[in-house]
Amino acid sequence: MFTEMNRKVKYDKGVSCTSHLPIHEQQTTLVQAVRDHPFLIVTGETGSGKTTQLPQFLYGAGLAKHGMIGVTQPRRVATIAVAQRVAEEMNCSLGSIVGYQVRFDDCTSQGTAIKYLTDGCLLRQILADPHLTKYGIIILDEAHERSLSTDILFGLLKKLFQLQMSPDRKHPLKVVVMSATLDIEKLSGFFGNCPIITIPGRTYPVREKFCNLLGPKDIGSSAYITETVRVTLDIHLSEPAGDILVFLTGQSEIEKACNMLFQKAESIDYRYDVQDTSVEGLLILALYGSMSTEQQRNIFLPPPAGIRKCVVSTNIAATSLTIDGIRYVVDSGFVKQLNHNPRAHLDVLEVVPIAKSEAVQRAGRAGRTASGKCFRVYSKEFWDTCMPDHMIPEIKRSSLTSVILTLKCLAVHDVIRFPYLDHPEERHILEALKQLYQCGAIDRNGHVTRLGHFIVEFPLPCNLACAAIKAASLDCEDLLLPVAAMLSVENVFIRPGGSQKEKEAEERHQELSLQAGGCNDFATLWFIFQQCKGSNSPAAWCKKNSVHWRALKSAFSVEKQLQEITSRLKQFKDFPRERFDGSRNEILRQCLCAGYFTNVARRSAGRTFYTMDGHGNVVHIHPSSALYNQEAQLEWIIFHDVVVTSKIYVRTLCPVRYEWVKDLLPKLHEVNAYELSTVAREEVTEEELSKWRRKEAIKLQHEAAMEESI
Ligand code: CDP
Ligand code: MG
Repeated sequence: MFTEMNRKVKYDKGVSCTSHLPIHEQQTTLVQAVRDHPFLIVTGETGSGKTTQLPQFLYGAGLAKHGMIGVTQPRRVATIAVAQRVAEEMNCSLGSIVGYQVRFDDCTSQGTAIKYLTDGCLLRQILADPHLTKYGIIILDEAHERSLSTDILFGLLKKLFQLQMSPDRKHPLKVVVMSATLDIEKLSGFFGNCPIITIPGRTYPVREKFCNLLGPKDIGSSAYITETVRVTLDIHLSEPAGDILVFLTGQSEIEKACNMLFQKAESIDYRYDVQDTSVEGLLILALYGSMSTEQQRNIFLPPPAGIRKCVVSTNIAATSLTIDGIRYVVDSGFVKQLNHNPRAHLDVLEVVPIAKSEAVQRAGRAGRTASGKCFRVYSKEFWDTCMPDHMIPEIKRSSLTSVILTLKCLAVHDVIRFPYLDHPEERHILEALKQLYQCGAIDRNGHVTRLGHFIVEFPLPCNLACAAIKAASLDCEDLLLPVAAMLSVENVFIRPGGSQKEKEAEERHQELSLQAGGCNDFATLWFIFQQCKGSNSPAAWCKKNSVHWRALKSAFSVEKQLQEITSRLKQFKDFPRERFDGSRNEILRQCLCAGYFTNVARRSAGRTFYTMDGHGNVVHIHPSSALYNQEAQLEWIIFHDVVVTSKIYVRTLCPVRYEWVKDLLPKLHEVNAYELSTVAREEVTEEELSKWRRKEAIKLQHEAAMEESI
């Protein structure tokens, strides 16, 4: 945590009363509607009690007798937080009647009747139990977020419903879709015009102000962090008591802002500097996706008298979580998204302007319990010209590789004609099929291979799963699994704001990468994992090295689970077995090649590289890499991910030998989209295909012309 002040704070225990929530007036109607209909949509303002109360109503009415009530959430933090809250409200321990399950963390038991789980987790469970026989009711919550997994679940549950007309199930599964604001008519149409129940909201007026500190030219720069901190501090000094909710983009930006705020807050003299003399201190709390359970608890607790609470959060606090007592919202105007970048043909983590509808939702958070104010750090011009009206659903902007493999494993062969609420672009589906073919998860006919069935067992992206399988086939998973675990948790490197501290942390990190050999970022992660694990006092080791102890703890647990999966799979007679004679350093890099051969780049002029995936993008090494400034000594590299700011940067990388990738690279060009279109469509006619080919050819011509004109 960030502040001395945070440590001194004592919280009141206990749960605030929730009987006043708007949803209570509709308890009977809701329970009856679930009894009467297979599909139901419940919509209402954020904070009206949908997530925490509806499952309790259904449980109370005896509707969990024939199976659990499963409530999905798109985000892991929200899943744990609401489960915790409901367990407290029901006065039971977490993991008993109320439990949760997120990737790598299952807190449920035999007696669990209400289970909160991430949508990704439910998707994985369908693989093992396609009829979801353990569940009586599935509630798909936060539908308006339109996460990739929730969108796929819409289609799967619709299909499942069509199937359950067969007498396989004694008690048909009920599906409830809950959403804050969404095109609910469209969703109701999708589920056979099912009924919609609206919970009336109670909100207070929110005054909105453009602070004009950011404009269109600030897209791509990090100015929004400092400006957001400036506005937040101004509010603290000049506005009456009331808590602040600050919207920023991701873990590192939030930590940076919290540190800056803390440094500035330390020098406040409360006798002279603050307008409202009842304000005697600032409590700064961070909130982002991969935080631990204990850490989140403080977010919801009221601050002690005289202290102003300031929560610096990702978009998670916009709808998934409701924090009481917020009077001021600071909207940076940005959000971090994983987007499929069509120009780079890569999935990139980008900081982009939010949609206007999201800005309205953010502002609304200030008016839940009293009237409030929203400070928009950006200008009206930014609003008018840079912010789209609505957010694009994830299915339309991200890589579909994992979900397409999941669908194929669920025997949904025709992935193009699957019932999507919003149909993803066909070329994105084809791109995913191509990648699955390249890594050997499907064959030329689009059928899942044995390797594909092994890959889908890992709760990891395809490339890491492939690398893990390769390592296991060489009996050296001890090299790869710690790396996979470290890449699955929050960023382990602490990068505090404030130049001196930042410099010190950077030096520590450089030291670590040097000790790990100095030329392989994956090996650095492995080294940190082992050093910390072997240390007598791991928490102190982390502190000394500016590494997140919390992240390491999660990585230890993730590695253990990956180990269990690997051991189980290795017992299959047809699990691949190979030999490789080389140093451990070489083996690690070779295993990584098995997964990351789609992310290979070769050095071009100066410090630049170009990717070998057929698109030939020019990329640069990110300054956080051990190989930054060593470009001249490199030729071939593989990389884990890509960040786009003014340039395309590759991050977490290592050098590889041409011999290791040369046999894999031709696979990248072996299949073309036309060929895969036939495997994507099960009963495609020749006529349909040629029509599609013509269309595709025109599209390609058009794109080529566009690119030339840029
Ligand atoms: O799902 P919806 O946005 O409609 O509301 P909810 O998440 O069920 O929240 C209902 C109320 O419970 C909120 O107004 C919060 O006051 C409270 N709550 C809380 O105090 N702590 C949590 N972890 C979750 C909810
Ligand atoms: Mg909710």
